Amino acid sequence: MAKIYITTAIPYMNGTPHIGHAMDYCLADVFARYHRLIGNEVRMSAGTDEHGNKIQQKANEAGVPVKEYVDKNVALFKDFIAKLGVEYTDFVRTTDADHERRVQEVWKKLSDHIYKATYAGWYCTGCERYVTDKEYEETHGVCPDHNKPYEKFEEENYYLRISDFKDQIRELIESDKLLILPEFRKKEMLALLEDSPDVSISRPKKELSWGVPVPGDDEHVMYVWMDALSNYITVLGYPENEINEWWPATAEFVGKDILRFHSIIWPAMLLGLGLPMPKALVSHGMVLADGQKMSKSIGNVINPVDVLDRHGVDAFRYYFLRHIDTFDDSDFTWEKYENAYNNELANDLGNLVQRLATMISKNNVKFEKHNIEIEKQYCELMENFEFNKAFDLVWEKVQNINRRIDEEKPWMLAKAGETEKLNECLNSLANELVYVATLLSPFIPQTAEKILNIFDGQVNPPAEPLFPKNR
Ligand code: MSP
Repeated sequence: MAKIYITTAIPYMNGTPHIGHAMDYCLADVFARYHRLIGNEVRMSAGTDEHGNKIQQKANEAGVPVKEYVDKNVALFKDFIAKLGVEYTDFVRTTDADHERRVQEVWKKLSDHIYKATYAGWYCTGCERYVTDKEYEETHGVCPDHNKPYEKFEEENYYLRISDFKDQIRELIESDKLLILPEFRKKEMLALLEDSPDVSISRPKKELSWGVPVPGDDEHVMYVWMDALSNYITVLGYPENEINEWWPATAEFVGKDILRFHSIIWPAMLLGLGLPMPKALVSHGMVLADGQKMSKSIGNVINPVDVLDRHGVDAFRYYFLRHIDTFDDSDFTWEKYENAYNNELANDLGNLVQRLATMISKNNVKFEKHNIEIEKQYCELMENFEFNKAFDLVWEKVQNINRRIDEEKPWMLAKAGETEKLNECLNSLANELVYVATLLSPFIPQTAEKILNIFDGQVNPPAEPLFPKNR
């Protein structure tokens, strides 16, 4: 039994959950459930990123104390994660006293690689990062992710000396010891690494008071990325606790927009702390609305709760895990969502369950369950984070059972009184369906459980269709 540690990016608490946030959670949850299914022990972390300028600004706009403002959003996010059927084992808020104390210890341990200097240049509050002159020129001074002009800054900051670690990070990425997925992002990250200056890890307190104080310097607070990235280890109790039972993480799930921080600052921090690299950084694409990035800053957000309420959690998970590309950008449209629900979930799967259970029950067939052995191809796809492909593989099996019913025509066997053949045929089909439900369980756990309960001993067709239409 292996120990598997999975992390999710911690969202900024400057607003309510949006559809894009579901990606990290759903991908991590599928991976976690898969590992539990094959008998591994899993820890999965989630959390909230609560410091920084833009959160302070939003709280000011709302006219409430920052802590009150973030508390409200944290509750909404926790509720959202639960609604997604996502089960984490550990939750960290960057305003937790334990986290704040631990992140200060992290800073102290990195002090050989930290220096103070004055910075003059451009900053994006949306990204919470400084922008190089080259980037400024290439983007004509406007952040492409947030559609906002960069702000001019001149201030004294502490810096993390990335140059101390560049060669090691390059080697780790090139050799896949720090595996970056998808493969095509690896080159991008290597290029960013080459261009990466030392990074600022603090802000003067007079500019930003909402942050973790820099140890030994009352004038500065920590820059959000140093604070936020540490969550993956502070949640395990680092540095007080011995973490190597769980660290390094098996996989860290992040969006492509924040992969750069996880490929440069995070490895530099880990090297400075003498900790091993996560085994894989898995970056997903953006969920788009009409080809445009959905974001709180742009304001074109589809309310995920509407999507969840429309057909329930498994329809949501089905769409996001099968029809939203695991690694690349994909559009969400209501039309595609409705089609997937009606044609695939209701017709392919829902009808199949109803039909097979009805035939077994009507013909008094005794259902005997076989032992299940999960095939290698499915495991390989899951372990390589090819979730769309694994889901397609399972769906082919759903369609194959439907095809077999049409070809083997069990109702003809019933009509001809061929009881033994009928038994054999329905048992074989139902066992295949039980196997399929097992493979579906990481993706659509509630549905899988319903199917497994129906085909367990005495088979009775469900009173309600699994996926009712015309809702
Ligand atoms: N607070 C940082 C993460 C710190 S991790 C140490 C942050 N927060 S965020 O709220 O902007 O984003 C949280 C996660 O949601 C990121 O993985 C990000 O890529 C993801 N997404 C935000 N918008 C998204 C889409 N529209 N589509 C897909 N994922 C998106 O970045």
